[in-house]
Formats: sequence, structure tokens, C-alpha cells
Amino acid sequence: MNFDEIKELESKYLAQTYRRLPVAISGGKGMYLYDFDGNRYLDMFAGVATSVVGHSHPRVVNAIREQADLLMHTSDWLYTYPQIKLAELLTQLTGMDKVFFTNDGTGSVEAAIKLALKVTGKGEIIAMKRAFHGRTLGSLSLTYGEKFREPFKTLLFDAKFVDFNDVGAVRNAITPKTAAVIVEPIQGETGIIIPADDYLKKLRELTSEKDVLLIVDEVQTGWGRTGELFAHQSAKIKPDILCLAKALGGGFPIGATLFHGFDFSYGDHGSTLGGNPLACAAAIATIDVILDEDLVKNSANIGNYLLENLLAMDLNARGKGLMIGIDVDNAQKIVLDLIKEKILTIYSEPTVRVLPPLIINKKQADQFLEAMGRVNP
Ligand SMILES: Cc1ncc(COP(=O)(O)O)c(C=O)c1O
Repeated sequence: MNFDEIKELESKYLAQTYRRLPVAISGGKGMYLYDFDGNRYLDMFAGVATSVVGHSHPRVVNAIREQADLLMHTSDWLYTYPQIKLAELLTQLTGMDKVFFTNDGTGSVEAAIKLALKVTGKGEIIAMKRAFHGRTLGSLSLTYGEKFREPFKTLLFDAKFVDFNDVGAVRNAITPKTAAVIVEPIQGETGIIIPADDYLKKLRELTSEKDVLLIVDEVQTGWGRTGELFAHQSAKIKPDILCLAKALGGGFPIGATLFHGFDFSYGDHGSTLGGNPLACAAAIATIDVILDEDLVKNSANIGNYLLENLLAMDLNARGKGLMIGIDVDNAQKIVLDLIKEKILTIYSEPTVRVLPPLIINKKQADQFLEAMGRVNP
């Protein structure tokens, strides 16, 4: 197989919903991905903030192998242990009480929406301008981008969008019908937009005062990405509902919606595959590696190092931990030029997004910085 053959088959057989970069990957190990010609690329976006422990981490591979040997799936008609063990671990790490398992980020947001509507009996949700919460119809209703929404407009529910990083705007938007406010601690998909340090704290105070639920979507910011295990923890707040996915399974599809103080009732929601033993085993092993290898600290350290150096290069960069955005004239061109340097990043114009696995070391950070200097002199 070579790139041209794969590209042709992709356009023949796959839904044309993705704008892919011109690289076909055959394997991965640690910080590196390999194409079909044997070229090695430094992975600086981790499958969109997902492959946190790097590619094919032996502990995650072993956990999946052992669990696959034992049991892959039963559905939730039966009790299985890995999902209970993972749920217990998640509640310990987040301070939440209960977990509903999903298969991805949009599923976690869908569950959060249904839970918020169900427990409040109210119908309005406030979301932020430039927010991204997913692309199924519920989460799409809370996603701001017109290009995602336009074709499906008639099926979306009416969310109220207010300026991100403006607590006063949320205050003005809350009515007696408001069930919840949903927020990303840092807006990821729309270009690494970082609010004021006290934003989440003030949102928490406001939503508590108004008796409105606060849903924090950490699908992208969770699991050490921002140099904290969860980005909301530095604000010292407790959300009512917390959405997780992406890095939770280290690359294996799994998401989770966590909450406290209320619960679903039988039949309110469900998922045949959500929390299946294989996905849960992958997630437990991924979390163990994050904690044992001190990857949250590494994210903070290497993230600071990258950001300081990018700023020293006079680049328009911002970030927290290993969630970094660099604004440039033409982000797509920079990403394509970086591919020639055998470095993989992604972009949301005008921002190059840097989201490497949390195992990245200083030498690899330097490799990226030097390449960045060459492609954007
Ligand atoms: C904050 C946030 N929420 C939800 C999602 C949707 O996740 P998924 O693509 O797994 O459905 C994303 C995806 O990028 C995200 O960044």
C-alpha cells in the first residue's frame, strides 16, 4: 500500500466528512507515527488530544490483550467488573458520585443534556459562543459554529449562546426556564481560547446562586492536557455534571458523564457498548500510566517550556500545559510545511494546534520548536 492507493480507496469507500492531512499512518510507538513508506513523524496532536500516553503503550496494550482474552462485551443487561472498577476510580479522581459510560465525547454531552433536562424539569441550556460540544443533534445544538449547524438547523434545539469569558452575559441570559450552563474550561476546537483565571469560579458562583446546573465539558481539556488532571480543578470548583472522553481511553473509544446529587432513572438513557469491559480495561490502564508516570506534571513542565520558547521566537502563542495554540497567517500551510519536517499538528484557522501526547520530552519539544522556526521564519 502507498499513500495514493489509500487516498483513492478512502474517497471511494468512506463518507467524505473529513478533511484529512496528506499522510497515511500504518503504525505508532510512543511519540511517533509511521507511514506506509516507513517515514517517522513526531506526533504533536495525539489524535486530537487523545493518545495521552503515546502510541501502543505496553501497559495499555497488555491490559487490552488480557481483557480481550477474558471478555470483550456483554451489554449492560449483565454486571461486569471493569466498568465498576473504572467508575470507582473516576469518582475518586473527580469527586463526582456517579458515572454513565458512553463511547465518545458527543455521547457524553448528550447524556449530560438529557440528565440536566430530566432532573431540573426545565428546557433551556446556555452555551458559549465559539463552543464545540460535538456533532450529534443534542450536542450540535450547543456547538456554536454555523458551518456545523446550518444544514441541520430545523432539528436543533434552541440554545442561548453568550460570549465566552463573560459571566455578566450568562447572568443576563438565565431565566426561570434555564436548566444548565455548559462550558469548556478552554475552548479547544475553535482555537485554544483561554478565559480569565477566575471565570469558572465565577460561573460556579452564579449558577449556584441561580440554582442552575453547571456542566463542564472536559472532553478535550481532561486527563492532564492543561497541566492539571482536570482543568476545572485549578479553579477549585465542583461541576454538577462533568463530560469526559478522548484521552480517557488513551485511544480506545470511551466517554463518561459524571454527576452528583441526582441520577437517571431506569430507561432514561442507555448504550449497548457504553462502558464495555474492553474499553474500561483500556481506560483503567491509561489512567494508571498517567498517574504512575507523573504525566500531568510533565504536561505542565514541557508545556511551559514550549510556550516560553514559542513566545521567545516572537510567535503569537498561548496555552496551558500541552494545549497550545499558535496564531499564524495561514495555519493550513504551516501544518502542511510541518509535515515535510516530519511533524504532525492540526489547525483551526488561524491557529496551529499543538496537543502532543503527555509523554513528550524536552528533546522532542526542541525538535518541534526548531521545525516551527524553519516553517515560520
Ligand atoms: C470539548 C469537546 N466536547 C465534545 C467533543 C466531541 O467529542 P467526539 O468527537 O468524541 O464526539 C469534542 C471534540 O473535539 C470537544 O473538544
